[in-house]
Amino acid sequence: PLTRSLSMGSLSGLPLWDQEELPVEDLLLFEVAWEVTNKVGGIYTVIQTKAKVTVDEWGENFFMIGPYYEHNFKTQVEQCDPPNAAIKAALESIKNNGCQVHFGRWLIEGTPYVILFDIGAAAWNLDRWKGDLWNTCSIGLPYHDREANDSLILGSLVAWFFKELTDQLQDKPNVIAHFHEWQAGVGLVLIRSRKLPMATVFTTHATLLGRYLCAGNADFYNNLDKFDIDREAGERQIYHRYCLERAAVHCSHVFTTVSQITAVEADHMLHRQPDVVTPNGLNVKKFSAMHEFQNLHSMNKLKIQEFVRGHFYGHLDFNLEKTLFFFIAGRYEFSNKGADVFLEALSRLNYLLRVLFLCPKAYTLHTVHKLKRDTAQSVKEKFGKRLYEALLRGEIPDMNKILDRDDFTIMKRAIYATQRHTLPPVTTHNMLDDSTDPILSNVRRIGLFNSRSDRVKIVFHPEFLSSTSPLLPMDYEEFIRGCHLGVFPSYYEPWGYTPGECTVMGIPSVTTNLSGFGCFMEEHISDPSAYGIYIVDRRFRSAEDSCNQLTQFMFSFCQQSRRQRIIQRNRTERLSDLLDWRYLARFYIHARHLALCRAFPERFKMDSLAPPPNQGFRYPRPPSVPPSPSASLHSTPHHSDTEDEDDHEPYDEDEEAERDRLNIKAPFTLGAVPEGKK
Ligand code: UDP
Ligand code: G6P
Ligand code: GLC
Repeated sequence: PLTRSLSMGSLSGLPLWDQEELPVEDLLLFEVAWEVTNKVGGIYTVIQTKAKVTVDEWGENFFMIGPYYEHNFKTQVEQCDPPNAAIKAALESIKNNGCQVHFGRWLIEGTPYVILFDIGAAAWNLDRWKGDLWNTCSIGLPYHDREANDSLILGSLVAWFFKELTDQLQDKPNVIAHFHEWQAGVGLVLIRSRKLPMATVFTTHATLLGRYLCAGNADFYNNLDKFDIDREAGERQIYHRYCLERAAVHCSHVFTTVSQITAVEADHMLHRQPDVVTPNGLNVKKFSAMHEFQNLHSMNKLKIQEFVRGHFYGHLDFNLEKTLFFFIAGRYEFSNKGADVFLEALSRLNYLLRVLFLCPKAYTLHTVHKLKRDTAQSVKEKFGKRLYEALLRGEIPDMNKILDRDDFTIMKRAIYATQRHTLPPVTTHNMLDDSTDPILSNVRRIGLFNSRSDRVKIVFHPEFLSSTSPLLPMDYEEFIRGCHLGVFPSYYEPWGYTPGECTVMGIPSVTTNLSGFGCFMEEHISDPSAYGIYIVDRRFRSAEDSCNQLTQFMFSFCQQSRRQRIIQRNRTERLSDLLDWRYLARFYIHARHLALCRAFPERFKMDSLAPPPNQGFRYPRPPSVPPSPSASLHSTPHHSDTEDEDDHEPYDEDEEAERDRLNIKAPFTLGAVPEGKK
């Protein structure tokens, strides 16, 4: 067989990997997940961003399988016929037996084929399939657990499809099926119990118990080996789900997790050590102009500023050019995602900034609320018209008379109408459960109400962003680009895409050493904070200390000048190669090889089953950072006074590279914590 050298690494210094190439023309690859064409959380991002590299490798022999939702299908999928006769026949057989399945190309990069099963249309089989599951592995599903029932329907359809397919293929081409997370795992359990000739991989993106225990405030990581897992699952009424998860894990030829930290968790919660760790990547886009991402930051920041002007009208007593935008985003898992720590740290930051800044330079900007802007526009037009008419007559108009009484009236009206007697709200929406909502309750507790003296202002947008929203018309990517710092101090986070997405867009972010991403970056970067990756220690410190550490990260970030921020963004963006599927796909490739060798040992033998090298590589500390992080940090944020002077960008990396070359120490430190504040 040919040898493929995945060489993306050679450009960026990442390790190379020589691997025997699979005969993909004699294979079919299927990837099964509940999130195929169906956006829920990070698993969707895995599936969607990885499609391109997988199609590049597998071409017409790669298919994704998921649930059919009419809206998703209509908006994201181009219907077509299966290119493969055996697949076509298998799908026909399912349709002829009263179930619905749809086939097409998913309109994302790589345009992979998708097979989408209609769960509702097959629900009439549920009781029979529950019986099959019980007879196969003695797992019973309660009638009220819709999610588990749906996963059984999907799994039964998937197993049925593979039975039809493998009957027709007669062992050539061989089939690999890769399943993600417990909701897709039933299919794997049924395939294996029916002894279908297939190679299977199961990837877990979290463990059910891990997520539940952490959300329930257990001291999870210090007690991993002490939990009575069956009992814990039973008490949380997820015993049947946990059994499905555990069965899928143990039935698979190859089991993988998305990070090392989840590998340890899985060993304890599911009693199997993963064979491979498959870190999550992104489909990284490089712009031809190196600094395009900096320009995009500026452009999108303008949109956020526009929103802030509207939201804070009447209270815009802060300079938007000197305002930094920090954000947290994701599914609403309050403590798992670290929103609790973030809010507490914001209140501490507010205190620190008040003490230091106490409005030395704050001045009132005139609110540029729309009504006022419209009024100004119409008065300006009248003014211009009268001025023009006077000039045509050869006169200089009397400035005291050029505007009449009506003009003054509408100007006064605009001022009166936009006066505000309440503080700018902390949330953009009216919330149904306002009094019990965890974020709002905590905002009340810490008292961050956007009052004039608060240097930290809060806006809670309790909905996914969308470019069609009248309120904040930006999609999530644009929003990230316009911000300065993403803050994701998660407690439970098997990988955590949100900080990684910031990284590839050149936006610094905060993560933790309890997130798969944070540990991965810690392993591969010598001085993560210099590169704009701030890793909060939530593993070995108390919650109080972690919160203080986060406060200090944010505080020192606030002390950077614009120029420092620009240089730091350049460094952040340089890490993109490490998170690119063109590099990370190798772990998936390896998992598939391993599965084939285990499922078909007589046909697939490989000289070496060594995993891709991933250790030892580290981004060096940027030479322009002084060796002692705190040696040269300004003790007061006075450099912000001169910030406007270094506002003429783009700064490219030339200056920094030159300093690196000459080994001249930078006159500042990025991301350092002042000694006295530690
Ligand atoms: N996300 C989004 N819109 C938002 C907030 C988050 O599309 O307003 C996406 C984000 O891009 C990321 C995913 O949601 O890809 C969250 O994935 P992550 O792995 O961080 O967490 P999970 O939800 O899987 O636990
Ligand atoms: C980018 C742009 C610069 C702009 C800067 C603002 O680098 O290329 O023109 O001045 O962003 O940075 P800031 O961190 O203040 O938003
Ligand atoms: C899960 C995890 C998240 C991870 C994602 C993709 O939903 O909560 O940390 O990034 O899956 O693997």
